[in-house]
Amino acid sequence: MNVPVIGFSKLSKTEKVNWLVTAYFNGDTTASDIITRYWNDDKKLQELHDGFSENTITNYYFPFGLAPNFLIDDKLVTIPMAIEESSVVAAASKAAKFWLERGGFKTQIKSTIKSGQVHLMYHGLNSEMEAFYAFAKADLLQSIQSINASMKKRGGGLQSLELVNKTENLDGYYQLHATFETKDAMGANFINTTLEQLATTFREKATEFKGFSSDAPEVIMSILSNYVPQCVVNVSVSCKIDEIGTINGVSGADFARKFTRAVDIATVEPYRAVTHNKGIMNGIDAVVIATGNDFRAVEAGVHAYASRDGQYRSLTRARVENDTFTFEADFPLALGTVGGLTSLHPLSKLAMRILGNPSAEDLMKVTAVCGLAQNFAALHSLVTTGIQAGHMKMHIVNMLEQIGANDAEKAQLKQAFQDKTPSFSALRETLDGMRKK
Ligand code: MEV
Repeated sequence: MNVPVIGFSKLSKTEKVNWLVTAYFNGDTTASDIITRYWNDDKKLQELHDGFSENTITNYYFPFGLAPNFLIDDKLVTIPMAIEESSVVAAASKAAKFWLERGGFKTQIKSTIKSGQVHLMYHGLNSEMEAFYAFAKADLLQSIQSINASMKKRGGGLQSLELVNKTENLDGYYQLHATFETKDAMGANFINTTLEQLATTFREKATEFKGFSSDAPEVIMSILSNYVPQCVVNVSVSCKIDEIGTINGVSGADFARKFTRAVDIATVEPYRAVTHNKGIMNGIDAVVIATGNDFRAVEAGVHAYASRDGQYRSLTRARVENDTFTFEADFPLALGTVGGLTSLHPLSKLAMRILGNPSAEDLMKVTAVCGLAQNFAALHSLVTTGIQAGHMKMHIVNMLEQIGANDAEKAQLKQAFQDKTPSFSALRETLDGMRKK
């Protein structure tokens, strides 16, 4: 176990599994049994999945579920969601139903611009760097024309390029800040290829420029940014207070008041904001994963956006004005509907078809709706019954599995805990009681 394994990536899948069983499981083949049980019988499909990553030994399943009845901009949508947390799809469906009867969700794309930077260091005068940029700019733009061509044909491509002086933040630090429109592509490869070409041309032009008083500027790195405050979708729901009705014994007016306060608390209190936004990401990530998009990129961008004024805050806003309750959010979402896993993973392709093969903008809208719906459902429970009643009811299935109940016992226990919040100890006690009879 303490000996490094050499050439691991070159071993066949079976050889990798055998190595694992020997090195970590003392030769116990229970491990390889688990691993091989998750292999797909369809060889070609398995090869496709193996190819998604390096050193793949098996597949890791996530539940792929549906949340139907979302009324989005007057159209009914069924949202595909890939998520393992038991109450999330149920909560989304509940929120969909609530707003289906109250006008549905409204969405609006605010902007779809992404950015990337070539990060540079230069320790001479700022005026020299500016003179160099003026000298090089036309060639910088010229050098990316062929990379840009097909994206331009689709109505996208590089939108702007500027030299930014960041020396106040870090001694000698400059950047080429480039903005992009990538249409239906998430655009990571296009942006990174463009930036790397800009960096190459930048280096070449620097050797021709005679006006540097110190060493020529150095390219540190070129990479897209997952911070996308200019790629934002707005989503909202709204209804008259008297349309809310009584919720879990709470009047519509009280519900709206407490709900708004709960959002205000998450706006000013980071301890609450993180959990509040985590609930939003339950919905957003589930759609992002189901559609084969990069959820880590979305997570990083969303949380940075939540702290854009220097404090981490709620992403959603709620208000009551003129007897009308409004709940809304702006979400920065850089998503793609062409290229990447989206076009390769059979379940992502299926998710796209369920959504009517949306454009990237339409996918931004659906994803944002799922995020707002999730937050609505969570606050709906939190300010009325509390979260545990519903949560544990969904979780009971996992708990019954863990305490080793058989099918008949599971049915009996579910019945016994219909009106109670289940805990492990209470379930075990009841099961023991049942078995003694
Ligand atoms: C659990 O996954 C998410 C919640 O904690 C979100 C929230 O508290 O708003 C229920």
